[in-house]
Amino acid sequence: MHAIEFENVDFAYSEEGKAEFCIKGLNFAVEEGEFVAVLGHNGSGKSTLARLSNGILVPDGGKITAFGTPLDEKHLFDVRKQVGVVFQNPDNQTVASIVEDDVAFGAENVALPREEIGRRIDFALKAVGMEACRHATVARLSGGQKQRVAIAGVLALKPRMMILDEATAMLDPKGRREITDVVLRLNKEEKITVLLITHFMEEALLADRAIVMNKGEIVMEGRPAEIFERHDELLTYNLTLPRIGLICKRLREGGMSVTDTLDIASLADEIASDLKGGTAS
Ligand SMILES: Nc1ncnc2c1ncn2[C@@H]1O[C@H](COP(=O)(O)OP(=O)(O)OP(=O)(O)O)[C@@H](O)[C@H]1O
Ligand SMILES: [Mg+2]
Repeated sequence: MHAIEFENVDFAYSEEGKAEFCIKGLNFAVEEGEFVAVLGHNGSGKSTLARLSNGILVPDGGKITAFGTPLDEKHLFDVRKQVGVVFQNPDNQTVASIVEDDVAFGAENVALPREEIGRRIDFALKAVGMEACRHATVARLSGGQKQRVAIAGVLALKPRMMILDEATAMLDPKGRREITDVVLRLNKEEKITVLLITHFMEEALLADRAIVMNKGEIVMEGRPAEIFERHDELLTYNLTLPRIGLICKRLREGGMSVTDTLDIASLADEIASDLKGGTAS
């Protein structure tokens, strides 16, 4: 089943005085259980795609379906329970001052019984590794911890899909790692479908599939490693390789015979054997 499906979707922002941006006849689908990364230069339409996917924005034409349910006014509430979104700024996503109240907020809004809410808070905090902070003050947490609380709030609704719109953009490397670890685990263990919008190429490597957006269109699609092999094409969309890819490229340019790998361990092995070969000769 498709977790989300766009069929011939048209969309344009209607406000005047701004640069015109539109999506025309977009076809796009994420399969249930899939982990898809969305890459694209600033303004390419990634957030617009996220907002359309859970009904924050409404298409001008075409059809969007989430888990077989049409995303229209009548089903908006149902779809929002199934497709949760985490945004960039953790501070804009907290609504209560204590962690457990914040996590419970969405679940309380859908009027679940008290015991069920309690169970869901337990599940969600455990899933993001924040059980120990249950009674902590949100404002005192690190950025990575706050984002994990935001993810827990979405998880408490037991969504089948999560969309993360640059959810790690404001975090330091440690915070980013905390989030990508959690997201990967939720995808693999809880079978939650993931759409990860990111400008960190490294994060895209975690996905089963990556898509590249440019000016409201999907211009590249494939396994992340395949996409990164098309370096020149990526450059035309103002994107670059993950750092590991750049290092490989430099090493080859410098005359070292490393393969085009995106795996740190195998690159290290290759460099080591190349160096050994060099000493022996
Ligand atoms: N509310 C709005 N009204 C008018 N234009 C908008 C609005 N929101 C976004 N846009 C424009 O639509 C285009 C796509 O924006 P979008 O936010 O989807 O891009 P993005 O790929 O998420 O960019 P970024 O990497 O900066 O987050 C941009 O040119 C932006 O200026
Ligand atoms: Mg955006």
